[in-house]
Amino acid sequence: DLMNNFLFINMDEKLKESQLTTEELAKFCKQKGFVFQAAEIYGGFSGFFDFGPLGHELKQNLKKLYWNEFVHKREDMVGQDGSIITNPKVWKASGHVDNFADLVITTKDTRTKLRADHFIEDELNIPGDALTANDINELIKKHNLTYNGEELEEVKDFNLMFNTQVGASSDSSATAYLRPETAQSIFPNFKIISETSRKQLPFGITQFGKAYRNEISPRDFVFRCREFEQIEMEYFYNPEVDSKVLSDDLANLKVQVLIAENQEKESDKMIEMTIKQFVEEGRINELHAYWLATFYNFFNQKIGLKSENLRIREHTKTELSHYSQATIDIDFKYSMGFKEMFGLANRGNYDLTQHQNLSKQKMDVFDESTKSKVVPHAIEPTVGVERLMMAVILNGYEKDDERGNIVLQLKEKLAPIPVCVFPLIKKPELVDVAKQIQGKLQEEEIYAVFDKSGSIGKRYARYDEIGTMYCLTVDYDSLEDNTITIRNRDTTEQKRISIEDIGYTIRKLLNNKISFKEL
Ligand code: GAP
Repeated sequence: DLMNNFLFINMDEKLKESQLTTEELAKFCKQKGFVFQAAEIYGGFSGFFDFGPLGHELKQNLKKLYWNEFVHKREDMVGQDGSIITNPKVWKASGHVDNFADLVITTKDTRTKLRADHFIEDELNIPGDALTANDINELIKKHNLTYNGEELEEVKDFNLMFNTQVGASSDSSATAYLRPETAQSIFPNFKIISETSRKQLPFGITQFGKAYRNEISPRDFVFRCREFEQIEMEYFYNPEVDSKVLSDDLANLKVQVLIAENQEKESDKMIEMTIKQFVEEGRINELHAYWLATFYNFFNQKIGLKSENLRIREHTKTELSHYSQATIDIDFKYSMGFKEMFGLANRGNYDLTQHQNLSKQKMDVFDESTKSKVVPHAIEPTVGVERLMMAVILNGYEKDDERGNIVLQLKEKLAPIPVCVFPLIKKPELVDVAKQIQGKLQEEEIYAVFDKSGSIGKRYARYDEIGTMYCLTVDYDSLEDNTITIRNRDTTEQKRISIEDIGYTIRKLLNNKISFKEL
């Protein structure tokens, strides 16, 4: 018992130590070259960020991992890359022109704009997501709320889409929008993609890319920005057909959930539920539950987000987006608390029907299983790449007292620089071999950097801090026996391995085909 208590206390201390504030995270990300304000030399530009060498690699790795799991490994999924600016009728049909708004409060004197739900959250410490304009106006009156002593005007809608003029004409018909979500460009392409890729229902179309929102108050580092990247999917199905897709493993997966009823009682109490309970309790349909479990496992097992950092939150009825029949989020425990990282909406056939009506083009397809035509419904998984990146860094950040440095524990496939090659000292004969090894790794398409500056200990620390999985060191023995030292980031364990088939060995390690132990 004593030992257990001791371990428990230590675990707790360790957790506390590794918890970063958002400011500390931003500082770390800037120092290491992950991400920083756009155009910092001009004082930045609120809501816009630039990704440095490591941030760019990490984002690429996240997208590559997603694409491999969800497109290349599946028969029922294809990809696309839609344009950022498209025919503005798309946004009329989707409802974004009329409904894609946040509530804004304007102060009476200085005309400062405040995002209404955030203002209420900050002032009254209650969740703001589900509040309507009326609720907020009443709360402002009831609590006599002011902002820096200024009185507040009634809450108004503020459309979040960025407008732009296309072409040289000043004609207002040339007004177009930067897309506020990537998903929407999938719907107008639904027919052409289903025909050209010869996909039968159910099947999905996915894409990733930039999205733009004129957020009223960008905040919390890259959590809420004005330009960001989304990974989105529309999974099309016929609701008349029983999906029967929940395997036992997925059905019995246990997760921590904040249900809508508790939020309506202003409680953030979580309960443990299995995925099949969501369906049995009529919260979501089986296909929706299948995607919830599949993405939960992806974040947990492939991306490596610890289950204690993840929670599932059901949207309340008043908070549902204009297109959604039911939405479930996966929240990550950021420094500000649990917040949305991933969303999973059942959009019904709202979008395809809207596009069918406005374009006068048929959006129905023949469903082999029912031998009838149907305008399919869509389940939409969506995740912001910046929010995922923040989660991955917070989740993996460990201060290691024994080593005296930070260790960024990232999954092998996410590490921005997975491998590093060092000559033990700067002697040309060692440098030559190290460069040859780097070349062998490059031939295997493994990103490996060469580094000869500083003591070996300093170099280990430098690469631990950015999550490099394996450091390979060439020493004088290497010249004799054709072996090098390989060091494991997480355990600091070292082994000697042959240079001969180094590319092949490292590839197997990075693909988890062999473990370090088995080397
Ligand atoms: N197509 C559905 C859709 O766009 P959303 O909940 O508005 O739904 C999806 O956005 C995801 O995009 C969110 O779960 C979040 O990860 C990310 N996201 C949304 N707004 C963002 C912002 N201003 N900055 C960074 N990421 C954002």
